[in-house]
Amino acid sequence: MEIILETQNLCKNYFPGEKEVKVLKNINLKIETGKIYVILGPSGAGKSTLLHIFGTIERPSEGNFFFIGQDINDFSKDQLAVLRSREIGFIFQSHLLLPEFTALENVMIPAFIRAENPESRLEGSNEKKADIKKRALKGLEEVGLKNRVNHKPQQLSGGEQQRVAVARALINNPSLILADEPTGNLDKEIGKRVFQLLLDLNKRRGTTLIVVTHNEELAKCCNQRIYLEDGHIVV
Ligand SMILES: Nc1ncnc2c1ncn2[C@@H]1O[C@H](COP(=O)(O)OP(=O)(O)OP(=O)(O)O)[C@@H](O)[C@H]1O
Ligand SMILES: [Mg+2]
Repeated sequence: MEIILETQNLCKNYFPGEKEVKVLKNINLKIETGKIYVILGPSGAGKSTLLHIFGTIERPSEGNFFFIGQDINDFSKDQLAVLRSREIGFIFQSHLLLPEFTALENVMIPAFIRAENPESRLEGSNEKKADIKKRALKGLEEVGLKNRVNHKPQQLSGGEQQRVAVARALINNPSLILADEPTGNLDKEIGKRVFQLLLDLNKRRGTTLIVVTHNEELAKCCNQRIYLEDGHIVV
C-alpha cells in the first residue's frame, strides 16, 4: 500500500474579520495511491478547503501535510508549482478557462508549461507542439467536444466549458486528480460520461481520484468515503 497524501492533525483557520474561523479541525487522513475517494458532507463543511490543501493551493494553518512522503512545508512556491504541474490535475469550477484562448489552446497550456519547465525537460518530456496538439485534440474528443475545438470559452455553454476544463486537467497525465463537483454543470448523460472518463483513467493508469460530489449515483462508484461535518472527519 502506497500513500500519496497524508495529513497529520491538520487544521485550517481563516481570519475574514476580527474573529478566527476554524474551517478544518484536526484532520488525520491517509490517501492511498490508485484509489477513488469521494468527499461528502453538508455545504460549508470544508470539502473544497480540504481539496485546496490537497492541491497545495492552500497551506495548512497547523499540522502537517505530506505529498508522496514529502513535507509540503519544505517546498518553495516555485517547487510547489512544479509539483502541481507534474502530478496534479484540477477540475474546479472556479478554475476558469482563459477567455482569449480557444478550447484547444486552453487544453494545451498545461502541457506547454510543463514542456517549458527546465526540470521536466531534463526528464525528456520536452514534447513537440504538434504532439501536444494531437493529445489535446484527443482529449477534447474524449469529452465529446471534437466539434468545438476552435471555440473560445464565451462561445461555449457552461457544461462545455467544464468539459474543456476536464480535458485540460488530464493532459499532463497527472498521478492525482482533484475534482470539485466535476459534473455539477452537466446534464445527467454527459455528467456520467465525464465521470466514466475519470474512472477509466483510474483503471488504466492507476490515477488517484479525489472527488467532491453531491451526486449519490456517482459517489457509489468511489471505493473510499470521507465524510466531513463542520471541519471534522466523521465516520
Ligand atoms: N478564504 C476564506 N476566508 C474565510 N472563510 C472561508 C474562506 N474560504 C472558506 N471559508 C469558510 O470555510 C467554510 C468551508 O468552506 P468550503 O468552501 O470548504 O465548504 P464546502 O464544504 O466546500 O461547501 P459547499 O458544499 O457549499 O461547496 C465555509 O464556512 C466558508 O465560509
Ligand atoms: Mg465546495
